[in-house]
Amino acid sequence: MKKTTESLHAKVDTSNDAPISTPIYQASAFEAHSDFFYSRKNNPNVEEFEQAVSILAETKYAIATTTGMSAITLVLNLMKPGQHLVINKHLYGCSYKLFQWFCEQYQIRLSIIDLTDMDEWNNLPEADMVFFETPTNPFLYTVNIKKISEVFKKKNPTTLIVVDSTWATPLFQQPCKVGADISLHSATKYFSGHSDVMGGIVLTNSQPIHEKILSSRFYFGANLSPFSAWLLRRSMLTLEVRLKQHKDTTNILKAYLEGRSEISKIYYPEIDGEQLSDYATLIFLKLAKPYEKQYKVLTENLKLFSTGTGMACVTSMIAQPFSGSHASMCDAEKREMGLDESLVRLSFGLENVEDLQQDLAQAFSALVKEDA
Ligand SMILES: Cc1ncc(COP(=O)(O)O)c(C=O)c1O
Repeated sequence: MKKTTESLHAKVDTSNDAPISTPIYQASAFEAHSDFFYSRKNNPNVEEFEQAVSILAETKYAIATTTGMSAITLVLNLMKPGQHLVINKHLYGCSYKLFQWFCEQYQIRLSIIDLTDMDEWNNLPEADMVFFETPTNPFLYTVNIKKISEVFKKKNPTTLIVVDSTWATPLFQQPCKVGADISLHSATKYFSGHSDVMGGIVLTNSQPIHEKILSSRFYFGANLSPFSAWLLRRSMLTLEVRLKQHKDTTNILKAYLEGRSEISKIYYPEIDGEQLSDYATLIFLKLAKPYEKQYKVLTENLKLFSTGTGMACVTSMIAQPFSGSHASMCDAEKREMGLDESLVRLSFGLENVEDLQQDLAQAFSALVKEDA
């Protein structure tokens, strides 16, 4: 059976009434004879969401959390004072800040390295944990999970390889099959798909890691609420069809934008077919020199793209990472990452592709050349 079919049918059996859609168990506590205990620990809606994701990700365990950031925090909490954490240079702004803050607070050594640059690999240090996104936010660079895992584990077999796979989705990438010990997602993005719920998920095949993270979720209170779990589980039912449509639209609009003179570069991940089997929805583009300060003109003219930090939604969105997703970093840190005001992120929704193309055409035509 295809895993997408199995995931659609994932169900926590809770009632003799057998409703087709699992009801929302909006309860904080359960009777002593129940399989469930207290919703901070476990809840039928949360478990059903976890099951659906672990089937797609092909992992033994899944732990749902309040947000993507709390998923990262629970994983970071596996680190001890004095240990060494290596992170990739290209990272979501809040994750970057969390790592800096956490490591300073708990005396953990932090190294920021460009893990996309194979020339650096001979000099990689020994580490206790390595954390990276692939594809990365921003720029959609891909990091080779298998090779990175081999290099670090050769130096220290107990190094934990952690992959934030948010932008690939568990349909297109399964990091724990190719060398990661832990993978995680912000469920707020593709899983939700409607910009109406926040969540996160941690995935692993290791029982000790699973137990530690489960305990931290219980003690820290980072559990997903039953309603959020229900919404996410419901949205997951359409993940595959949404991604198909997002992908077709993205391919058409990417090809269209490549021909526009106002754009100097389009960023799109490398789909190698081994690690990343496909991709959908998001692209980054760089406004060409005479237009690079005109992000605002673009947003003022676009009718179908809402502004904001959200993405992978059924409706299209536009964002400027410099002032949005990476706003918590200082300008020097952003520039070190290669980020400036000319970088634009587009998330293509499910609108008719010709409508989106027309909207982009009129908005890009409204840009005015400025002297350098
Ligand atoms: C790659 C990546 N990881 C994690 C997060 C954090 O997720 P959340 O906003 O659900 O906390 C984000 C948010 O944009 C992200 O882009």
